[in-house]
Amino acid sequence: MPLPTIAVCCSGQGTNLQAILRAIRRRRLKARIGVVVSDNPKAYAIVRAMKAGIPTVVLDPRGFSSRERFDRALSKVIGRSRPRIIVLAGFMRILSPGFVRRYPRRILNIHPALLPAFSGCRAVADALRHGVKVTGVTVHFVDEKVDHGPILAQEPVPVRPGDTEQTLADRIHRVEHRIYPEAIQRVLKG
Ligand code: GAR
Repeated sequence: MPLPTIAVCCSGQGTNLQAILRAIRRRRLKARIGVVVSDNPKAYAIVRAMKAGIPTVVLDPRGFSSRERFDRALSKVIGRSRPRIIVLAGFMRILSPGFVRRYPRRILNIHPALLPAFSGCRAVADALRHGVKVTGVTVHFVDEKVDHGPILAQEPVPVRPGDTEQTLADRIHRVEHRIYPEAIQRVLKG
């Protein structure tokens, strides 16, 4: 049986992509990555993908006149590898409803908070600012609303006295790197 293909979308450092690559290497995640797409030409995630020999595509939003046009190009690039699922790993873009409808229950996202708390792109800073004692990580299917959709996995991360955005983000990342590959594997197994 050929391994199911996944497509991964990233915008930044790509540490979650690295964790997915590691899980694939260790056969804890039985999948292959067909393509890594980034909307950020400077994303280090692209370097990680290239080092792993994975086809990479950069789609710079500045080259598109609307979100819908960008998303059509994204869909085309992703579609070429015929992925079973699309994995958003630090992809800092809102997907248009048209894109999301094309892939019902086939887009996964990881978010650095216990959704529905602290949605948006500054979840770690927001949690610190609010003085919560516990935040965490959520893996969910993507629906048409932002940072929203059926939850697949959640794990709390305590906020420690003296935590900075960096120290808290580091601890959140460690949890993400463990639970995202696990959640992806569960989805692929149905
Ligand atoms: C991760 O912490 C992920 O949860 C977050 O971006 C980071 C990407 O890190 N995503 C969001 O905030 C989505 N709203 P990485 O590039 O090192 O994987």
